[in-house]
Amino acid sequence: MWTRKDLLGLEELSKEELELILSTAESFKEVSTREIKKVPALRGKTVVNLFYEPSTRTRVSFEVAAKRLSADVINIAVESSSVKKGETLVDTGSNIEALKADIIVVRHNSSGAAAMLARHLNISVVNAGDGWHEHPTQALLDIFTLKEKLGHISGLKVSIVGDIAHSRVARSNIWGLTKLGASVTVCAPKLLIPPAIEQMGAKVAYDIDEALSSADAVNVLRMQFERDSEAAFPQQLEYFKDFGITSERLKKAKKDIILMHPGPINRGIEIESSVADGTNSVILEQVTNGIAVRMAVLFLVAQANDKSQSVKDSES
Ligand code: CP
Repeated sequence: MWTRKDLLGLEELSKEELELILSTAESFKEVSTREIKKVPALRGKTVVNLFYEPSTRTRVSFEVAAKRLSADVINIAVESSSVKKGETLVDTGSNIEALKADIIVVRHNSSGAAAMLARHLNISVVNAGDGWHEHPTQALLDIFTLKEKLGHISGLKVSIVGDIAHSRVARSNIWGLTKLGASVTVCAPKLLIPPAIEQMGAKVAYDIDEALSSADAVNVLRMQFERDSEAAFPQQLEYFKDFGITSERLKKAKKDIILMHPGPINRGIEIESSVADGTNSVILEQVTNGIAVRMAVLFLVAQANDKSQSVKDSES
């Protein structure tokens, strides 16, 4: 059963909660195949997208997901909002709550921003990526896509290759995949592997061929130059030579290895173009699956918050 009013990260979720999101997403995926791609599940609700960092996939995907659930959607352009006049995140959130929104979807460059907002608000908060901390819906759609392709998660070997140190996607994937019984190996140059990664349950490989050799799937991450990757690994061409996912390297991997990337892709830096567009790639399927996964998350948090509010009302 789902009782959380917020989705802040996968670290705090149980295996059963992860499975509930995935099964709910499975049932919502069918909605996108209908001629009229809408269900009334969130009719009368308002979802506000509050993005303090750039986004294409996540922001649009949350908007499409909310609209398919018949919610009203408001996108706040932080650049032209009162944030520019010095308003704090919590004040912005409190004002959105006072405007009677039901769910805030927030992306922020500070780790813990979504959790802080959730502590201060009664409405639901969904984390769309906070600093280096977590990007739960990205990991959920990665896991959903893997399950759709391979039928199960337990027992799979998944390698995550790239800028692990700065990656909220890597962290959420490690929490989610290991709870569901997969084995996760991270692979990067030494300076891009954070020190406590093994305590999260991941293995570490510094050799790309080792990371690919027995993997059922590889999730390729970009170098996050806006978060200082360059300081750790200055030569893009060197990175591509040592860690780039190329068709030559994939020849040594399992023939049907699943090739994932959360996007945006930097072609020729972490991945060869022919691989990104090749037959092993499920990159655009991941994007499509993001809609069903985010529909599930919005639906579950809204339903849980409605239930807890009605209990509070009956007690008062
Ligand atoms: N994967 C991802 O978070 O992409 P965006 O930054 O475009 O949302």
